[in-house]
Amino acid sequence: MRLTGDFLATALTLLLTVTSAVHACPPSDRAALLSFKAALNEPHLGIFATWSGTNCCTNWYGITCDPETKRVADIILRGESEDPIFQKTGRTGHMTGSISPSLCRLDRLTTLIIADWKSISGEIPTCIASLPRLRILDLVGNKISGAIPASIGNLSRLTVLNVADNRISGEIPASIVDLKSLMHLELANNKLCGEIPFNIGKLSMMSRALLSRNQLTGSIPSSLANLHRLADLDLSMNRLTGSIPFQLGSIPILSTLNLDSNRLSGKIPTILLSNTGLSILNLSRNSLEGNIPNVFGPKTYLIALDLSYNNLNGSIPKSLSSAKYVGHLDVSHNHLCGAIPKGTPFDRFEASSFCDNDCLCGMPLPTC
Ligand SMILES: *[C@@H]1O[C@H](CO)[C@@H](O)[C@H](O)[C@H]1NC(C)=O
Ligand SMILES: *[C@@H]1O[C@H](CO)[C@@H](O)[C@H](O)[C@H]1NC(C)=O
Ligand SMILES: *[C@@H]1O[C@H](CO)[C@@H](O)[C@H](O)[C@H]1NC(C)=O
Repeated sequence: MRLTGDFLATALTLLLTVTSAVHACPPSDRAALLSFKAALNEPHLGIFATWSGTNCCTNWYGITCDPETKRVADIILRGESEDPIFQKTGRTGHMTGSISPSLCRLDRLTTLIIADWKSISGEIPTCIASLPRLRILDLVGNKISGAIPASIGNLSRLTVLNVADNRISGEIPASIVDLKSLMHLELANNKLCGEIPFNIGKLSMMSRALLSRNQLTGSIPSSLANLHRLADLDLSMNRLTGSIPFQLGSIPILSTLNLDSNRLSGKIPTILLSNTGLSILNLSRNSLEGNIPNVFGPKTYLIALDLSYNNLNGSIPKSLSSAKYVGHLDVSHNHLCGAIPKGTPFDRFEASSFCDNDCLCGMPLPTC
């Protein structure tokens, strides 16, 4: 009886040891996470209080391991969340500190999301470019400064690069065009300067490129037209000069194009307005001149067309009347002249859509 009891106890201990070994994360991964944690301060939610014990693969908030190798695969820490742990702070978190280079010891990392913590500062560790499996790098909504690592192009599997809403400065690294898997590039609302790489058209998988609210200069690369999957391009609120490359009009699935608040000059390319896939076009607050091409048709479906604050002259194109839909139109603050066309969609727009031109007239403005 006693023998059996001993045997059972030993067997049980052995089983427990084996089970926990199977689920345990390697001590080196655990040490890397602990030193990452030591560089951050999250005072309200206590999410790092869950980072205790030897097994970082279980119950460590935000950590997921590869089920086979037990190596840390994902770090997902979002500062805006519906998770129960966020209930006491009204779904929003706050963190200070910086992102420790010790992360780079997690060489099986595929996802790194440290988003919307508002006050994480410091720089992006340059060693991040040595994480060969990284697919998602999302550091949006912090106070991260410094440059994007020059060797970022090393990350051949990266599909999402989002460092928007930070204080990133310097130029967009030339190597970025080597990110051959990249689908989403989000750099908006930083302090980036210099030019957009002329060969950005090499990023053949890219569907979304959001670079607005920086200090980018130079012209819009015509190679963007090679991006056959590009649906959303936002270069607004920069210091871009030159004319709008007509090639942008031939991007097959482009549906949102925001180039507003730059220093663009020249004419609006005809083929841009005849591209019926485009549903949001904002060219407001530039120095565009010449006529608005009269190339709209029954397939035109515009949620918003904003051409305000330019130097456009001539008249409002009559073909806009044949559009299937125009939800929002703004041609105010230009040098347009002549009668506003009658009927749909013009009967829905207010005077503010047409104000401050040279000699526009007719409803909703005074009669001609
Ligand atoms: C590029 O990635 C490889 C692994 O894929 C790594 O060995 C090398 O150090 C990385 N280079 C840089 C500059 O980070
Ligand atoms: C277009 O851009 C301007 C200036 O950046 C902005 O004020 C305006 O609201 C935008 N128009 C639309 C329809 O979003
Ligand atoms: C419109 O402006 C262009 C130069 O920007 C000028 O060459 C052209 O004559 C003007 N057309 C009209 C109708 O005023």
